[in-house]
Amino acid sequence: MRAIVYSETGDSGVLRLTDRPVPEPGPGEVRVRVVRSGVNPTDWKARRGALSHPEAVPNQDGAGIVDAAGPGVTGVAPGDRVWLWEAAWGRPDGTAQEYVVLPERQVVPLPGGASLDLGASLGIPALTAHRCLTVAEGGPDRLAPGALDGRTVLVAGGAGAVGNAAIQLARWAGATVVTTVSGPEKAALARAAGAHHVVDYRTGDPAAAIRAVAPQGADIVVEVAPAPNAALDRAVTAPQGVVAVYANNGGDEVALSVRELFTRNIRYQFVLVYTVPDAAKDAAVADVRAAVEAGALRVGEEAGLPLHHFPLERTADAHDAVESGAVGKVLVDVAPE
Ligand SMILES: NC(=O)c1ccc[n+]([C@@H]2O[C@H](COP(=O)([O-])OP(=O)(O)OC[C@H]3O[C@@H](n4cnc5c(N)ncnc54)[C@H](OP(=O)(O)O)[C@@H]3O)[C@@H](O)[C@H]2O)c1
Repeated sequence: MRAIVYSETGDSGVLRLTDRPVPEPGPGEVRVRVVRSGVNPTDWKARRGALSHPEAVPNQDGAGIVDAAGPGVTGVAPGDRVWLWEAAWGRPDGTAQEYVVLPERQVVPLPGGASLDLGASLGIPALTAHRCLTVAEGGPDRLAPGALDGRTVLVAGGAGAVGNAAIQLARWAGATVVTTVSGPEKAALARAAGAHHVVDYRTGDPAAAIRAVAPQGADIVVEVAPAPNAALDRAVTAPQGVVAVYANNGGDEVALSVRELFTRNIRYQFVLVYTVPDAAKDAAVADVRAAVEAGALRVGEEAGLPLHHFPLERTADAHDAVESGAVGKVLVDVAPE
């Protein structure tokens, strides 16, 4: 089978196309014929980081068709359309290859109406967004229609991949959704994702603009840039609110005004999708699956997430596109459906 691998870390030039034997599933494992591989910032960051296996296939997310199931697999069967999550976490085998073998837990059925493009866009962004939306004081710890009724969610960077998933999941769960963006093109995408209110954080007084539409403040802030947004978050987070930080865009050190934050019992929750507790991860997978079944998670320009396709042999270009800040979702076409 065709696979993209790297055996040294560095820029995208370390990625090469090679042939590998098709792997066999063991007990509790599923072999998936990968159709689409999703690219996230974590994939190029891992490729630039420390090599943890002599040879690695990149990309955590993907979607395809179940091809074979090992002994003891009960939840999926050959022919099922599925999405995959964290394929390359702690393993040498990501989704930039024609077949991947994964534990059944990481292989999730996709309903008939959902595209494989959607499936390959879910894993990292949607599971991260779910975690950010479920760490507030008093819950909810599950997302479903009504779970966030009466709550206000502020999504920093609503045109980003995680931001887009956060907007869609928060809307599905009943929240009032406010988001920040850096300009009109991204504002249109955030609105298409379903945000009720969109604020340009680069012009005027974004805190006043957010307070104008959410006078009580945000109960949950889904934060991609905690350092540059520290003052804004302090100004707009409601008492007992939470700032859920999932990235360090714009700086790794955050200056917090402790007195102002403790006075209002504001919580900072840091989020890394890979190390979310198992029970919370299982809940996230189940809720994201339910949101997909309900048609509440979508991709494409009309859903605020333009798609950019690259063939498998151009996986390096797909990585470069993500690294240089492509707006939307970058997908690798591994094989025809
Ligand atoms: N902790 C985790 O588990 C986890 C999971 C997924 C992703 N991440 C990390 O999260 C980051 C985003 O990932 P992604 O896939 O969503 O990337 P993406 O699609 O490139 O989105 C990043 C977004 O952040 C926005 N942004 C940057 N600075 C901002 C600011 N000061 N205020 C508001 N928005 C701002 C950008 O918008 P503008 O350019 O318009 O400002 C852009 O829309 C990456 O660093 C990634 O590694 C972490």
